[in-house]
This record gives sequence, C-alpha cells and structure tokens, in this order.
Amino acid sequence: MKISVIGAGHVGATAAQRIAEKKLAQEVVLVDIVEGIPQGKGLDMWESAPIEGFDAKVIGTNDYADTANSDIVVVTAGLARKPGMSRDDLRDKNAEIIKSVTEQIAKYSPQTKIIMVTNPLDVMTYVAYKVSGFEPNRVFGQAGILDTARYRTFLSMELGISVRDIQAMVLGGHGDDMVPLIRYTTVSGIPVTQMISRDRLEEIVQRTRVGGGEIVKYLKTGSAYYAPSAATVEMVEAVVHDAKRLLPCSAWLTGQFGISDTYAGVPVILGKDGVEKIVEIELNDEERAMLHASANHVKENIAALKI
Ligand code: APR
Repeated sequence: MKISVIGAGHVGATAAQRIAEKKLAQEVVLVDIVEGIPQGKGLDMWESAPIEGFDAKVIGTNDYADTANSDIVVVTAGLARKPGMSRDDLRDKNAEIIKSVTEQIAKYSPQTKIIMVTNPLDVMTYVAYKVSGFEPNRVFGQAGILDTARYRTFLSMELGISVRDIQAMVLGGHGDDMVPLIRYTTVSGIPVTQMISRDRLEEIVQRTRVGGGEIVKYLKTGSAYYAPSAATVEMVEAVVHDAKRLLPCSAWLTGQFGISDTYAGVPVILGKDGVEKIVEIELNDEERAMLHASANHVKENIAALKI
C-alpha cells in the first residue's frame, strides 16, 4: 500500500502519523504547497519509526510525481475555519484548491481512491468527483464517522458508559443540519431513549451538530484535527483491509433515499473498492425530511460553485 496525504497541516499530518503508526502502508507520502513543511514533518515522523515500531517510509514533498500510483489519496489541503465562520464560508477558496489538487491526483494516480476531508466536505467531494472523472465509488468523503464519534462521545459522557458500547449513526451533509438518528442509537442493543430523556437527547444532538464549531471556538486559530484524522484513518483502514465496514460516509447519490445528483452522508459498505454499496436503511418521515433538507443544502452549494 502506498497512501498519499495532501495537505500537511493539522489534519493531514495527524492522519499521516496515524496511518504510519497503524501500519496501514509501506509508504506514506505527505504533500503540501508550502516548501519545507511536508519534508520536515515527514522526516520527523519517519524518525519516530524506531520507537513506534513501524516500517513505513514517510516522504514529505511538494512534488505530486512522488505520489504516483498511490492506492489511496487522502485530501486535507485547504483552509480551515476560524471563529465565526461556517464550513460553507470556505467554499470558493477551497474549491479552487481542490480542483488543482485533484488534477494532480488524477494525473499521477489514475487508479486511486480519493478520501476527501477538506470542508465544506460534501461540496469538495463533489469537486473531486467531477474534476477527476473517477467512478463515484472511488471518490468519497469523511464526515459521518466524525459526527458519529462526537455524538457517541457526548452520550458516553452523559451515561458514564464506555463509548465502545454506544452504537449510533449520523447522516446528512457535514454541516449544522446533519442528521443524528436517535431512533437507531443503542447502548449494547438497548434503545438510548430508555436511558436518556427525550429533551436531554435533543440537547446532545444539538451539541453534536455544532461540535466542530465548539472546537473552533476554543482553538481560535483553526479547527479540530484529532477526531477528524482518526475518523479519516478509520476509512483508510476499511479500504486497506477490505473490511466491508458499514459506516456513514459522504457518497454520490443516484436516487437512494429519494436523493440524487449530490454527495451526502449515508450508510455505506466500505471495502477495497471504496464505497461498495449504499445501504438504504428505513427512515421515518421526520428523519427523511431532515436528510432531504441537509442534502438540499449541499446541492445549493454545489450549484453556487464557481469552478
Ligand atoms: N496544495 C497542497 N496543500 C495546500 C494547498 C494546495 N493547493 N493549499 C493549502 N494547502 C495546505 C496548507 O499549506 C496547509 O498546510 O493545506 C494545509 C491545511 O492545513 P491547516 O491549515 O492546518 O488546516 P487543517 O486543520 O489541517 O484543515 C484542513 O480539513 O477538516 C478540514 O475544515 C478543514 O478544510 C479544512 C481541512
């Protein structure tokens, strides 16, 4: 496995580190537009190999030729949010960056899979899909795993029960109108509604929706990266191990859930071919309406793209 990570900032460098430490690749290539940053971070990471016990080469570079024939490319290049900004505010600047990055990826790794991380997530995944010309199963985005991880963490804090025993799924676009599915949230199979009152659950859902913003407010100079990189690497791992994981990811919709011609977070089977299947779970009217509203929001942003 050769895995490239584009963008050697907070999310990209942390993702590269997790990929190396989890031994998911023989070669990890870290790319950035700024000279010296990927080289320095890559070498520093490689020098941790004797201690962490991994054998991957970690190459930092400004040259996409070094990414040639990657099996997976993770894209984190672009601007991150500052306080007061929504993910949508990043749209036009990041669309330009993702367009140029995708052209280089498609040139050097025409068979690769692209995992998008740059925000606004679903819109940037669309840009990579259109610019690459790849089949949609090979271009997908990370959002739902992160949103679900935040939701599960808040539920664990509330209940004082291990996060490992909390199962949940957050669907929709990666914005404040995301759709955490309370009805499908369980604690070792027990519906969470038996353990937490409806009002308190709504508060937890709301905290999840603005979970990214909560971190931005604390950091002031950027956005979250530990949980985003962990979520991204869970997807990388599913592809590398052909694990057939059922995870929420941003996928190209062609009528599933009554939605088409947009990316949005839905349950998918992730394996060696990327998004191998979209799993159409049953939604009630309220859940379906929320998913449609969220997907329509993504669609409006796609329509407003200037690239
Ligand atoms: N090509 C390659 N790298 C680029 C380019 C480009 N055209 N433009 C910018 N970059 C690099 C920057 O130099 C920087 O190192 O992308 C990196 C972004 O890193 P950070 O500013 O630390 O941002 P980060 O927190 O990693 O977030 C990156 O992921 O979660 C999303 O919303 C977040 O869109 C943001 C992205």
